[in-house]
Amino acid sequence: MSDTAARPGAREHRSPDPGTPTHAHISLAELWLASNYHPLPVVISHAEGAWVTDVEGRRYLDALAGYSALNFGHLHPALVGAARAQLDRLTLTSRAFHSDRLGPFCRDLATLAGKELVLPMNTGAEAVETAIKVARRWGYEVKGVPDGQARIVVMAGNFHGRTTTIISFSDDPVAHDHYGPYTPGFDTVPYGDLGALEAAITDDTVAVLLEPIQGEGGVILPPDGWLRGVRDLTRRTNVLMIADEIQSGLGRTGSTFACDLEGVVPDVYILGKALGGGIVPVSAVVADRDVLGVITPGSHGSTFGGNPLGAAVGHAVVDLLATGEYQQRARHLGAELAAGLGELVGHGVDAVRCRGLWAGIDIDPGLMTGREACHRLLERGVLVKDTHGSTVRLAPPLVIGEAEIAILLDALRAILR
Ligand SMILES: Cc1ncc(COP(=O)(O)O)c(C=O)c1O
Repeated sequence: MSDTAARPGAREHRSPDPGTPTHAHISLAELWLASNYHPLPVVISHAEGAWVTDVEGRRYLDALAGYSALNFGHLHPALVGAARAQLDRLTLTSRAFHSDRLGPFCRDLATLAGKELVLPMNTGAEAVETAIKVARRWGYEVKGVPDGQARIVVMAGNFHGRTTTIISFSDDPVAHDHYGPYTPGFDTVPYGDLGALEAAITDDTVAVLLEPIQGEGGVILPPDGWLRGVRDLTRRTNVLMIADEIQSGLGRTGSTFACDLEGVVPDVYILGKALGGGIVPVSAVVADRDVLGVITPGSHGSTFGGNPLGAAVGHAVVDLLATGEYQQRARHLGAELAAGLGELVGHGVDAVRCRGLWAGIDIDPGLMTGREACHRLLERGVLVKDTHGSTVRLAPPLVIGEAEIAILLDALRAILR
């Protein structure tokens, strides 16, 4: 999270004018909401595809897409249709009973991932917590680690959510500090360093938890071959490889999963965000029976996890991905975006990192902070969000077209001029 005030001369751009609907809505939010976010000064009331409209009728290109939760854009007709139809039939059973939605959804999601079982949850953090529990139980019951001794290796610079256990192994002080006492059992190694990972694995290690690309970290790409190296190492040492594909998965990088880019199949996928189509929170842990089979009735659950509404939307998402169209769009348009962004390096941009329709742009810190860049882009009708310091992340919806890529690149060129 960047801090505009930290830079001398920095200013918050475009304070909304008093008396405007934008000002009124922001004032109300500031009065009544806990300040766990620092939103840009735009109040959205409508959206369709890659475009949103604010309360004063201004249109903006959404180049953040709900941090990848809106991979298929706003109000995708197939997803809204699935949700509407389900709303008129059945929304919640709890897992005390079966629904006619959950089995078909889990079958097709497991098939998409090439795995045998699905454990449905709601939010991303909840799915990460679930994967941690699964790995620990697998460690005790299958691998034979002494009870209470299980360790999980995690990566420096990780972001897996903000529950108590997850922030216990976060090295971001904003997410971590003053929320202790922290959950033990995690060892941190540098991202992309295979030697350090090998050195950290002991007989008590049950899993390696990683993001194939670190999204919140600023779209950080590991060195080529690292994922394959992790796969080989975890196989050799009888440790589960858990890929958190909550942000990187479901088409974003130009393939169904970012792990596909290296031909790697982890033991466990953690999915979320786009699985709910930007409509309802849907997340899942997906793995084979020899891993997820350790879960027994009552040992894990969630009232809403696997609910019929979420399952109907999630199933429609899986159907969209099964066509391969969105992965292809992300590859094709991503190449165009990468080419345009590459031309900005040395012209106000220090570096860019791209995979599919996903990019981290390091703005020259002498020029402006990431936060300032977001404000300037907002003034030009483009919505993005900074991650750390001077890094801006682009994650436009995969329904974006060539014309919109051109708008995005023009806006970036203009603010850097
Ligand atoms: C890689 C990754 N894991 C987990 C999460 C947490 O998801 P949620 O915000 O739905 O809890 C995020 C959210 O940004 C994420 O990017």
